[in-house]
Amino acid sequence: MSPRKTCIAAMGSYVPEGRITNEDLERMVDTSDEWITSRTGIKERRKAPPDKCTSDLAYEAASVAIDRAGISPADLEAVIVSTISPDMNFPSTACFLQKKLRCLNAACWDISAACSGFLYALRSGRALVGSGDCENVLIVGSEFMTKITNYEDRSSCILFGDAAGAAVLQPSNSRREILDIFTASDGYSEAAMSMVLRCGGTQSPFCQEALDRKEHLQVIRGREVYKFAITKLTEVITQAAERQGIPVSEIDAIIPHQANLRILQSVAKRLDYPEERFFINLDKYGNSSAASVPLALDEADRQGFIKEGDLVVLAVFGGGLTWASATIRW
Ligand code: UT7
Repeated sequence: MSPRKTCIAAMGSYVPEGRITNEDLERMVDTSDEWITSRTGIKERRKAPPDKCTSDLAYEAASVAIDRAGISPADLEAVIVSTISPDMNFPSTACFLQKKLRCLNAACWDISAACSGFLYALRSGRALVGSGDCENVLIVGSEFMTKITNYEDRSSCILFGDAAGAAVLQPSNSRREILDIFTASDGYSEAAMSMVLRCGGTQSPFCQEALDRKEHLQVIRGREVYKFAITKLTEVITQAAERQGIPVSEIDAIIPHQANLRILQSVAKRLDYPEERFFINLDKYGNSSAASVPLALDEADRQGFIKEGDLVVLAVFGGGLTWASATIRW
């Protein structure tokens, strides 16, 4: 239990202008708008220019969050970037972001928890603020998914897009207080390898054969992830409500990881919770991994989908395997 309350002082998000529509994908692989829409709910996703990198997307989202928080980059004491599409293996994307933001007083590091990453960063950031260690922490989920996607694999290339979302965490000023965070992982199960980018690390360093097999790009066993996602999202949302001592029906809004509309419909049904209270923007952006939830949360706030005083639950799942929830009094 943190001794100090911690709040999300401000959010920011960014999506690049470029779009990949379902019609574009029809020209690239053997698929159809009808198949993609009915199986996923996705209509288009964003694509950043090839001369940009993940820290550029992070910079755009972070600048907005810092501005809205009314602080200067020099006030930041820690910057945590969650990503599975880093600028480089090392240095960290957070250090590249530091240079762009000119936040010279911050310690900067990355977190790798795939699509659950933003909530892992939120947990770390809350620990820093809650312990009294820091007054201003920047957390960012930033992904350049189109650079790690195999556009010859029709089962995965339809899913992903580029985006970034950021939050400034501060000691609570009573608004947007983080009430609870839960994170979990399972690296043991068979399904742990159902989302993987094999090549480029020490198990499988880059070599021509691996590149020829396209192992520098992510591979997803969609069906397996689909089942895991429904089970875990249902479980974390139920448990988040239990820890507040309320039924799920008293959650005002759920901001889920934006992976697949059918996954969210199944979860709503299992929870007996109205589908309309799930915020959904995956039709416009697809799955942007660690950026998906902060982008959705920022949009939900801007659009008035969530309002002051609402009890909001964020719920995610991702590679690792990882899953997490966060409960916020907005
Ligand atoms: O953040 C976590 C990242 N991962 C995910 O979010 C993935 C979660 N999983 C999913 O969203 C779904 O499993 C997919 C959208 C990936 C696939 O949908 P599905 O309903 O689970 O389809 P499936 O994998 O069971 O495949 C059904 C059929 C197969 O054909 P056959 O074997 O029945 O002839 C696939 O080859 O659909 C075929 N298929 C496609 N057809 C047209 C797979 N991808 C496509 C495609 N267009 N793009």
